[in-house]
Amino acid sequence: MNVRKDFTILKQSVKGQPLIYFDNAATSQKPQCVIDELNSYYSHYNSNVHRGVHYLSQLATEKYEQARVVVQQFINAQYDREIVFTKGTTDGINLVANAWGLENLGEGDEVLISAMEHHSNIVPWQMICQKTAAKLVVAPIDETGELIIAEFEKLVSSKTKLVSITHISNTLGTINPVDKLIEIAHKNNAKVLIDGAQSVPHLNIDVQQMNCDFFVFSGHKLFAPTGTGVLYVKEDRYKEMSPYQGGGDMIKDVAFEKTTYNSPPHKFEAGTPNIAGFIGLKSAIEYVQKIGLNNIYSYEQNLHNFAFDEMSKISEIRFIGTASNKASVISFLVGKTHPFDLGTLLDQLGIAIRTGHHCTQPLMDLYKIPGTARASFCFYNSEKEIEFFIKALKRCIKMLAA
Ligand code: ALA
Repeated sequence: MNVRKDFTILKQSVKGQPLIYFDNAATSQKPQCVIDELNSYYSHYNSNVHRGVHYLSQLATEKYEQARVVVQQFINAQYDREIVFTKGTTDGINLVANAWGLENLGEGDEVLISAMEHHSNIVPWQMICQKTAAKLVVAPIDETGELIIAEFEKLVSSKTKLVSITHISNTLGTINPVDKLIEIAHKNNAKVLIDGAQSVPHLNIDVQQMNCDFFVFSGHKLFAPTGTGVLYVKEDRYKEMSPYQGGGDMIKDVAFEKTTYNSPPHKFEAGTPNIAGFIGLKSAIEYVQKIGLNNIYSYEQNLHNFAFDEMSKISEIRFIGTASNKASVISFLVGKTHPFDLGTLLDQLGIAIRTGHHCTQPLMDLYKIPGTARASFCFYNSEKEIEFFIKALKRCIKMLAA
C-alpha cells in the first residue's frame, strides 16, 4: 500500500535502524492529515463547544458535531444521537457499567464476560457487581484461544442481564463470532456490549446489522488522537440509563433545589471534551474510508499469514492464540526466554513490539505464562519489514542461546 508517505513518524531510525513499528494493537500511528487537523484547530479556531455565540465557538461546535455524524455513518448507527464521545474504550465501558449497570443490575443477576477479556472489560464489572450484588460469570475458551460457543450458550440464562465481550482479543487476535453471541444473548433477553477496540481499525462495523446494545472503541487505535473514544448506545437503552458524571453540558437547568438533564448524547458528556481530538477522529475515519476497510482487512490478513508461516518455521517459537479466525496480531514465546528480554533485544534492532500480559492477566494465568511477545500489524507495514523481523528473531535466538 502506498501510504508510508502519510506517516512521518515511520520515516525515522531507532538505534541506528529504520523503525519497524509492530505495536499497532497498543496504539496506531497518526497520518499527517490528522496531525494537520489538530494544528488547524489550535492555530485557527480553538474555543469551547456548545457554549458560545461567537464565531470561533460556533465553528468548533460545527466541526465537533460533524465528527459525531462521521462516526455514526462509519459504524452505521441509526442516529447521530446514539454516539457518545468518551476518552476511550475503558471510559466507555465504565460509563455503561455505572450509567446502565447500577440501574439495571441487582442480586441474582449476572454479567457474562469471556476468559479473553482485557482488564477494562473485567474490572468495571467486578466493581459494579460488588455494588449491586450481581454475579460476574466467565465464559471459557479452548487451547487455541477460541470461545467455546456451546459453553457460552449454557451460561446465558434468564439471570444474564448483560453480555460484555470483546470483538477481537488484543492478546490472541481471536475474532469472536459476535453476531452469533448477540443472537444467543438476545434470545435470553440479555443486553450486549461489544468491545470494538481491536476491531474498528481492521473490520467493517455495522452496529445495526450486528444488533448490539452498546459498542465501544478508542480513537487512538484508529489513527486518531489519544484521549478520544466512542460509545454507541442503541437508542432504546438510553431510557434505562442515569447520568454517569455531572457538570457542564450534561444539564438543561441547574438550581440548588433540582437539576434537569440535557438529552443524550450530551447527558453523558460532562465537561469540556477533547474537541481537537474528535475533529482529528473525523479526519482519521475519512482517511481509513479512502483506503477502504475491505482493502485494509485483506492486506493485513496477508501480512499476518506471511509472518505466521515464516515464524512457524522457527522451532523455538510457541504461538499463544491460534484461532481459525484471527486478526493481524501474533502473540508468541521463544523457548524459555522472558518476553521482556526478547522485546529489549528487538528494540536494539529498531523493532517495536509489545511484551507483557497485555492487560489480560487472567488469560496469562490460564495459559500459565507470565506474558507474551506480541507483534501486531497495520496496513502501513510491509512484507519487507516482516522479513527483517524474522531475521532479527533468528539473530536474537542465536544470541540468547550463546
Ligand atoms: N490494550 C492495548 C494493547 O493491547 C493497550 O496493547
